[in-house]
Amino acid sequence: MGSVPSAPLSRFTTLDVFAGCGGLTRGFLDEGFGSVGAVEIDTAAAATFAANFDPLGSHTFAGDIADFQDVPDVDVVIGGPPCQGFSALGKRDPADARNQLWRHFVRVVRDSGASMFVFENVDRFAKTPEFELLRKAASEAGELSEFRTQVFRLNAADFGVPQKRIRTIIVGSRVGAVTEPVPTHGKVPAEGRPRWTTLREAFLRGAVILEPDVRQEWLPDSSFAFDGHVVPGPFKLPDLHVTRHHDLTSQIRYAHIAPGQGRFHLPEELQYPCWRRHTTGAGDVLGRLRWDEPAVTIRTEFFKPEKGRFLHPQWENGGVQINRALTHAEAAVVQGFDERHVWCGTKAEIARQIGNAVPPPLARAVAEVVAQRLTTA
Ligand SMILES: C[S@@+](CC[C@H](N)C(=O)[O-])C[C@H]1O[C@@H](n2cnc3c(N)ncnc32)[C@H](O)[C@@H]1O
Repeated sequence: MGSVPSAPLSRFTTLDVFAGCGGLTRGFLDEGFGSVGAVEIDTAAAATFAANFDPLGSHTFAGDIADFQDVPDVDVVIGGPPCQGFSALGKRDPADARNQLWRHFVRVVRDSGASMFVFENVDRFAKTPEFELLRKAASEAGELSEFRTQVFRLNAADFGVPQKRIRTIIVGSRVGAVTEPVPTHGKVPAEGRPRWTTLREAFLRGAVILEPDVRQEWLPDSSFAFDGHVVPGPFKLPDLHVTRHHDLTSQIRYAHIAPGQGRFHLPEELQYPCWRRHTTGAGDVLGRLRWDEPAVTIRTEFFKPEKGRFLHPQWENGGVQINRALTHAEAAVVQGFDERHVWCGTKAEIARQIGNAVPPPLARAVAEVVAQRLTTA
């Protein structure tokens, strides 16, 4: 990145709606944008946002977007609404609360006077009726008729993130088209581009070394006052290097699973009773990651091995085995966060923030083309 000449900080401004812990904002700030607003209904996530980007707590609205009225003037509205939030839109029920979520996103874009918006969602979003509604809003007869939209399908691994995570990014603009972000990394090295970042590079060669052997199960004792609440935190990245308690039977199960393997590799007697009836289905369940690849897509329950391919990659037959799921610190690194980001909330709340986030390097790649467009507009 960095083909935009270095400019005074906060040359352009963002308002982050459905802000979560601020993964999108982190990427935009790294590209020289300034954050002037955020809307987030979850108190712990809003506290994380404020602890990172709003030290005075003056521009983080910790509440429902429906109640967010003082919309600031900004250059770009950025937002990744909860993917399940739009699932009822296809039914066209205007009274449905989730339908309102959609309307408020459009309202905020309009009220902010933004030149551009960036909308992030899951890969399959581009195949939903909700996606068509967003396009329709930005068509001639729509509420965002001044905007034209472009859709990009981007993989975080292509931007240096140690994770294969494909996302739909919609850029809306009333100041002209952007160019598609150009990958900085590739599955195989080519044309001066290095190969995808691996877990080994991310955990053992990064700025913070994340030792595989972890015994600590609890976050340190610390509290943060935010918006009339007291929440745990703020925690630094090494504080998050804590494991879930895995009982002995679970650890014996995990010991049977080599990198790349999953629950189908368990001996019959160690299968969970409910699994014995299901001999097909998600092979990722109880899966072990590989050291020399990026991780699979991280979700909000990465600390539960039964929810996906989340077992630590260290496994040698008869040698050193690490029989636990990823720690919160490892998951944050897999999501492209570094030691600058601090975190607020309980373990479960922070896991949700991590799993929901847009990896900052991916956000930064989008911010770069947005900044280029705004600069020349
Ligand atoms: C997918 S996450 C956003 C992640 C964020 N873009 C990032 O990069 O870290 C969606 C967020 O929307 C929030 N949310 C859901 N409903 C909301 C509402 N009605 N008003 C404001 N925020 C809401 C959720 O709490 C969640 O943190």
